[in-house]
Amino acid sequence: MIIAKTPEDVKKVVSGWKKEGLKIGLCPTMGYLHEGHASLVDASVANCDRTIVSVFVNPIQFGPTEDLATYPRDFERDCALLEEHGADLVFHPDPEDMYFDDFCTYVDMDVLPDTLCGASRAGHFRGVCTVVNKLFNISKADMAFFGKKDAQQLAVIKRMVRDLNIDIEIYGCPIVREDDGLAKSSRNTYLSDEERKAALILSRTVLEGQHICAAGERNSAALKEAMMKKLAEEPMADVEYVEVVDGLNMQPVEEFKEGDLVAMAVRIGKTRLIDNFTVGDPDIVI
Ligand code: PAJ
Repeated sequence: MIIAKTPEDVKKVVSGWKKEGLKIGLCPTMGYLHEGHASLVDASVANCDRTIVSVFVNPIQFGPTEDLATYPRDFERDCALLEEHGADLVFHPDPEDMYFDDFCTYVDMDVLPDTLCGASRAGHFRGVCTVVNKLFNISKADMAFFGKKDAQQLAVIKRMVRDLNIDIEIYGCPIVREDDGLAKSSRNTYLSDEERKAALILSRTVLEGQHICAAGERNSAALKEAMMKKLAEEPMADVEYVEVVDGLNMQPVEEFKEGDLVAMAVRIGKTRLIDNFTVGDPDIVI
């Protein structure tokens, strides 16, 4: 497995692969990898000839009060996991390898980032779109793999690719969960034992929502009310939002249909956790 630090290092390897006509897959990550990330790598290895994984905590997608400084990092462990899953190249730049001092070009988007996580994280998706666009250009990947765990991010990336005519296929991977249902996340490490137990309310509420949809409910207000009631069973849960949005444009809908997204963000103590499901999606919690 090759470890590359600069965009130039990646480009050299990629130009050799391109000459051989190999199909390249890209899995963008911020490291501190778990089985959720590994599932993206597995999908890439299954669908492509070469797999690039980027491990980069992207400073421009964090707000001033967010956890950039404390975001967990363990590059050695990440490399061991990536090697095990068959990645061919790990791109691990420093921020100064990605952003010149006078960097001033960003990819911005209207509409989709205005709701859900984007509503409380100003500039977050501008930072995500910018870095992902850079990673697409550096890797020249044919396919890129993203998790449905970050459903709004997946929708935003798909829209960016369509709107800017980027020549890449976006593949969405199912949410990988702990045995008890909690969606795997690098941020789960912030949880104390008590908070870890309380965090189960998210996946339980997703399951409840899935049952309600399976029973035929199509009214967003009724679904949201039932999910809020479920979340209220956990005193440590501080709900940021529960929302039902159109699966393509991320705008709230009164009546929902298959393919629409039911998403939530909940704080357990200081840790902000997200979970979601897509109506009619066969991926169920447990
Ligand atoms: P990060 O949070 O490290 O996630 C990297 C990728 O792993 C994302 O596509 C995310 O949806 C996926 N992922 C995380 N947990 C998952 C789980 N439990 N099941 C399935 N997939 C999961 O998302 C980012 O990094 C950044 O915003 C990035 C796209 C790398 C841009 O900086």
